Amino acid sequence: MARVLILFAHPALHRSRVNVALMEAVQGMEGVTFRDLYEEYPNLHIDFETEQELLLDHDVIVWQHPFYWYSGPAILKEWMDVVLEYGFAYGEGGTRLTGKKVMSALTTGGPLEAYQREGYNHYTMKELLAPFDQTARLCGMEYLEPFIIHGVRQLTAVQLKEFAAKYRQQIEELRQA
Ligand SMILES: Cc1cc2nc3c(=O)[nH]c(=O)nc-3n(C[C@H](O)[C@H](O)[C@H](O)COP(=O)(O)O)c2cc1C
Repeated sequence: MARVLILFAHPALHRSRVNVALMEAVQGMEGVTFRDLYEEYPNLHIDFETEQELLLDHDVIVWQHPFYWYSGPAILKEWMDVVLEYGFAYGEGGTRLTGKKVMSALTTGGPLEAYQREGYNHYTMKELLAPFDQTARLCGMEYLEPFIIHGVRQLTAVQLKEFAAKYRQQIEELRQA
């Protein structure tokens, strides 16, 4: 069974409705490590050695976060900048992550229709997620189909519950893969 590391980035968890539900859905799953980056590093001073060890201990990495300005919250970028080092993740001798899988799990305010040429966000999610995809590729990792919940403000309580169950199932499938 694969070991899954969920790296969670939400700077205002007390105001979260959707990510908090997703977080609760995967709590306590066997073989799944849930890591709240803002809780670990409120000052954004990421301990890269600890984070690299965690990566080595897992087979599948999940970047879970709300979509902020067409990307992730700041700590996720900081995590990439300091953890995915030359010689570790890429470049000469940088093969430690080769063969691992990565999946983005994200929530967006904008509805799916907004994320197309004619929509108000103009670009598709696939286009906007290219930096995550290419980061994974450069590190020899496989970037999986993202898990996305669009239009979160319109979600009913029932829909949210269904998405949370779907997320748990997705993580379970990653365990089996
Ligand atoms: C600073 C900020 C930037 C945001 N940028 C986007 C964006 O680029 N695209 C989008 O669809 N929603 C955007 N949103 C909406 C969030 O994605 C949405 O509020 C979040 O996914 C809800 O999840 P939560 O209930 O866990 O907070 C933004 C929200 C904030 C606060």
